[in-house]
Amino acid sequence: MTRLLTICIGLLALPLAAQQVPDWYNAGHERRIDSLLSIMTLEEKVGQMTLFTSDWDVTGPTIREGYQDDIKTGRLGAIFNAHTAGYNRDLQRMAVEDTRLGIPLLFGYDVIHGYRTIFPIPLGEAASWNAEAAEESARIAGRESAAAGLHWTFAPMVDIARDPRWGRVMEGAGEDVYLGKVMAEARVKGFQGDDLTDPLTILACAKHFAAYGAAQAGRDYHTVDISERVLRDIYLPPFRAALDAGVATFMTSFNELDGVPATGNKHLLTEILRDQWGFMGFVVTDYTSINEMIPHGVAADEAEAGLLAVQAGVDMDMQGAVFYDHLAEQVESGEVAMSQVNEAVRRILRMKYALGLFDDPYRYSDTTRQSQNILTDANREAARRIARESFVLLKNDDNILPLSPGSGRILLTGQLADSQEDMLGAWHGDGRAADVITLLTGMEEAVGDGAQVNYVPDMQEAIRAARRADVIVVATGEDWEMSGEAASRADIGLPGEQEAMIRALAATGKPVVVVLFNGRPLAFPGVDSAATAILEAWFPGTEAGHALADVLFGDHNPGGRLPMTFPRSVGQVPIFYSMKNTGRPMDPNNKYTSKYLDESNDPLYPFGYGLSYTTFEYGAPSLEAGTMTRNDTARVTVEVSNTGSVDGTTVVQLYVQDVVGSVTRPVRELKAFRRVALAAGEGQTVTLELTEDDLSFYRRDMTYGSEPGKFMIYVGGDARTSNSISLTLE
Ligand code: NOJ
Repeated sequence: MTRLLTICIGLLALPLAAQQVPDWYNAGHERRIDSLLSIMTLEEKVGQMTLFTSDWDVTGPTIREGYQDDIKTGRLGAIFNAHTAGYNRDLQRMAVEDTRLGIPLLFGYDVIHGYRTIFPIPLGEAASWNAEAAEESARIAGRESAAAGLHWTFAPMVDIARDPRWGRVMEGAGEDVYLGKVMAEARVKGFQGDDLTDPLTILACAKHFAAYGAAQAGRDYHTVDISERVLRDIYLPPFRAALDAGVATFMTSFNELDGVPATGNKHLLTEILRDQWGFMGFVVTDYTSINEMIPHGVAADEAEAGLLAVQAGVDMDMQGAVFYDHLAEQVESGEVAMSQVNEAVRRILRMKYALGLFDDPYRYSDTTRQSQNILTDANREAARRIARESFVLLKNDDNILPLSPGSGRILLTGQLADSQEDMLGAWHGDGRAADVITLLTGMEEAVGDGAQVNYVPDMQEAIRAARRADVIVVATGEDWEMSGEAASRADIGLPGEQEAMIRALAATGKPVVVVLFNGRPLAFPGVDSAATAILEAWFPGTEAGHALADVLFGDHNPGGRLPMTFPRSVGQVPIFYSMKNTGRPMDPNNKYTSKYLDESNDPLYPFGYGLSYTTFEYGAPSLEAGTMTRNDTARVTVEVSNTGSVDGTTVVQLYVQDVVGSVTRPVRELKAFRRVALAAGEGQTVTLELTEDDLSFYRRDMTYGSEPGKFMIYVGGDARTSNSISLTLE
């Protein structure tokens, strides 16, 4: 049950009141924490604020040795990159049996899109526009993790990402604020469930707080310099959605914001997160990001960096050993108040209590549960189902897709056609290549006897073999290490010779179906014009080949929609649909307007775009009333019909433009959507709602709210739709 927390309001008017007291808050636990705090030594407190990696996995630049000794001396409260029920039980035993107070360890890991059963990368999953699917995959990932000794995932990553050069776009929900909020909420609910005391659930972590996705030039870890307005309108809302869904932890980001690194940024970590939003969980840094305030140039040494972090509001130091080395001394010298340390420790212990670890520290370390819950048939089946919903059909000339399993000679080629490892994508947890169904295997299983799949790995040979084929399927794209952390690219075309090969294959005159694997939007106009069909597959995970065969052979009609704009060339970046109009909007007949000499302003594929094996038609939107007051709900109704001959799913998207504001407003912003499954020939009336909050933003004076006037409402199948109606807010 939730109770309203006393509202604390900062200087700015807020879009929402402070967080409601989350389900995991428990007054009884607080009393037990009080007594524990009263007997803990300062070193033991600092230990709770310290997180070290085990030596199992490498997710950052340094490995600290000797962490097992630190556990036994009570100087370490949390471990990441250690997993499996048995291994973590052994570590837990050291904490519980060998230390004075027996405070259990907390085990974290980057479970981003699956633990062992790997789901599509989060960007792909966002392309499903299916919040239930995102919640389900997080739930399964959480259950597998919980069975493997883990308590805490460093997910969801809720960074808005508008620069496809940045490799980490694969980890989030893409460019859009609204879709980002929906996915953030779904993923938090999936990992945490309704009840953290249930040992099938784990703590989630909203990361990276904040604005990491705005790294200049798309280069990872680079400077961020955005206005407070952009921070609040664009980058913060998915974090707020995660918080409202009850997220237990936040992770700071590596970047600076207005000259202050996020890990030392009191404005973010205290004024916004605590004072304005009322967050009651704990804040962990990113990997050595306290130490990195030295090269950032805001601290002369580690002690100073640690001071900045703790005073900004950091509760737990990931891998930096800065609190470990300096914090106790700083408390003793009076530089840091004991009350501040107590508060941080309280927030961390709160989560250990919430998970039930004080009642049974081994409740996540059951090897039988582990063997029964990981990579089950049901989990694989869910991975297959969700993967096929993530695919986006970008092009389908002559309705070449779906292929018919009963006839024809299919030539399969391309470097990713039979690569198990690449299908997992970056951040694949404990996902294993050997578990993966590749495109080749999936197609071979699907065709049966009626058709023939001729797999020719070498592209040159494939060009020769094309003569004997009816259709060519090319599995192309990036390998899995080309996106994710520290994987920015300056050129976002298809790597290597792949584009030339696709053109050569197309030149044989045979239809070419491109299946694209990638962790970011690519700029590939050459491939686009050469290919007959393009299926965007992202990195689909363990069940890649089955899911792809389901779609390629028409057992599943693709319904995914792009969560990020696909540019024509890297020179257009950043390019996203909700840009501003400018004072000189593009006019092809007027030189002095906002455009390029050598490139169109239009993307290759817009946000929200995706084809189907059927066609959909949208009627004109209508409104119950053309005006609304601030307390009204506007209902926008549209008729959608499946005008083709097969069943399919469309995503009805509603965008809003505030025509005149006290500050400039985006040309349109997504504010609602609905996935609608329609049988062939079926029509449906869809109603979407808008409230004042959907029309609100940070106004000229930085208060949050709406402004009366005219709004354009666009309803259709992607961000370019001109199907519109106007609404007046009184
Ligand atoms: C650094 C990454 O930025 C973060 O997302 C991740 O959770 C940590 N490393 C731990 O691996």
